Amino acid sequence: MAKYFKTVMTHFSRYLPPGRVTNNDLSKLMDTNDAWITERSGIKERRFVEEPIATSDLAIEAVKKVLAESNLKPADFDYIIASTLSPDYYFPGIAPIVQHKLGFPTIPAIDIRVQCSAFVYSTQLADAMLKSGQYKRILLVFSDVQSKLLDLTTNGRNVAVLFGDGAAAVICEAKECTQEEIPQASNQSSGVIDTILGSDGVGAEMLLLRTPGTATRGFLSPETYENGDWHPKMDGRVVFKHAVNRMCEVAETLMARNKISANDIACLIPHQANLRISEMVREKMNLSQDKVFNNIHKYGNTTSATIPICINEALEEGRIKKGDLVLTVAFGAGFTWGGSLIRL
Ligand code: COA
Repeated sequence: MAKYFKTVMTHFSRYLPPGRVTNNDLSKLMDTNDAWITERSGIKERRFVEEPIATSDLAIEAVKKVLAESNLKPADFDYIIASTLSPDYYFPGIAPIVQHKLGFPTIPAIDIRVQCSAFVYSTQLADAMLKSGQYKRILLVFSDVQSKLLDLTTNGRNVAVLFGDGAAAVICEAKECTQEEIPQASNQSSGVIDTILGSDGVGAEMLLLRTPGTATRGFLSPETYENGDWHPKMDGRVVFKHAVNRMCEVAETLMARNKISANDIACLIPHQANLRISEMVREKMNLSQDKVFNNIHKYGNTTSATIPICINEALEEGRIKKGDLVLTVAFGAGFTWGGSLIRL
């Protein structure tokens, strides 16, 4: 009989640094207030690391948790895919640092750079690698420390109030299956059912951290440091519109091509960029409040880690369970975007 492989996401973990920063705390650093931030974004607080914590340190905490939860050892993995926009160093990425510090064998370890679309891009990549039969178990790592990049003054307030630090880890396994057991929306087989991805560099300058970079004369200069080009910059209104359009578009396409309606979905997990964006996607999909999971009020936008943090928390709270059909949608700098339909 023909042999197939499917990708099952067996374990999720999250790690949020302990340092809570409320909207009122930010209002002591810049001209902002709790009412503005809550009304425009839904955020009440976020977590910031303390020195000398770096992005790989958060990632390592999340990976330790997922290993403990799964009873697996580093030697049980054959690939690490890490996602971050805030690596410890300009190069190398954080994946080899995680590999070394946690004693993984000398397996391949790569960073991918798709910002807030990290979960959907990593899912698609791992799914293709596992389904091909080339790899057996892949560790996905998501970690970002935005707090060290942000302009925490009034100049940077439109971006600074939105982001927080956090990390997550996910274990993806190849499971052998029959043709009938290949995950589909119409059967009960757990695993990755479908993913959809997109990008459009027309938005590259609408959400970016400009320097250090080779587009800057000299890569890094006192001028670019002085004028704040080492902080993330965003045209908030344009990004908002693109995010809503693309997230709705991928949700509709995934539902249409898998022949499901909103009723079939146990939970929509949108990237946590702004509660108003999540609400617009929910309304467009005609979903009730209880079918969407948000935690942006507690953590802000943790960039690469929002969706796996949400899935981990939603599982823990009993909002979703093994066997449920979950739809994720994401949008990030690049622009990049995508969605995934997964049976847990
Ligand atoms: N506190 C108080 N006032 C602020 C502020 C803050 N933190 N940030 C901006 N403002 C002010 C602006 O200066 C502006 O004042 P003005 O009218 O006097 O010029 C006013 O609030 C409105 O600003 P605007 O940027 O138009 O607000 P908005 O309703 O578009 O909300 C965002 C701003 C950033 C919350 C919103 O655009 C957004 O969420 N964008 C998308 C974010 C996103 O998804 N990013 C990541 C993608 S992965």
